[in-house]
Amino acid sequence: MRVFLIRLSGVLLLPWILHAGNADNEEAGSRLFKAYCWGCHHQTAEAFGPSFRTIANKRTPEQIMAQIVDPERVSKTLGYRRNSMPAFNDLNATEIKALTDFILSFKDKK
Ligand code: HEC
Repeated sequence: MRVFLIRLSGVLLLPWILHAGNADNEEAGSRLFKAYCWGCHHQTAEAFGPSFRTIANKRTPEQIMAQIVDPERVSKTLGYRRNSMPAFNDLNATEIKALTDFILSFKDKK
């Protein structure tokens, strides 16, 4: 059942999340980051996990969202041998979108 739900969310939910309403979610992204991610990720410095700048420069929104909800499986597709990140599958679509946009805001301007 769990695997089925994850598959389903991969096919149906991710495109929907991507296009979820774009209410000003900058503030929410920053707040969620401080609440849930900051212990392991920093904005531009490497910590226990990679920095958001590093992530933003090499990943797609889909990869970032997938890692947030299912790191156990997705980290392997990103090249990690082991996963040390907890799954944040209690976050709703708006929260995941806000976090993903927040991460991508650290992408270097070309
Ligand atoms: C307990 C520590 C921890 C917490 C908390 C944590 N992460 Fe992670 N994260 C990691 C580690 C370690 C990795 C490296 C890959 C792995 O272990 O799965 C990672 C990897 C990632 C990646 C993929 C990295 C890449 O190479 O692209 C993303 C995206 C990510 N984290 C986002 C988040 C977000 C967003 C939050 C907060 C909601 C969060 N993480 C909270 C430890 C953590």
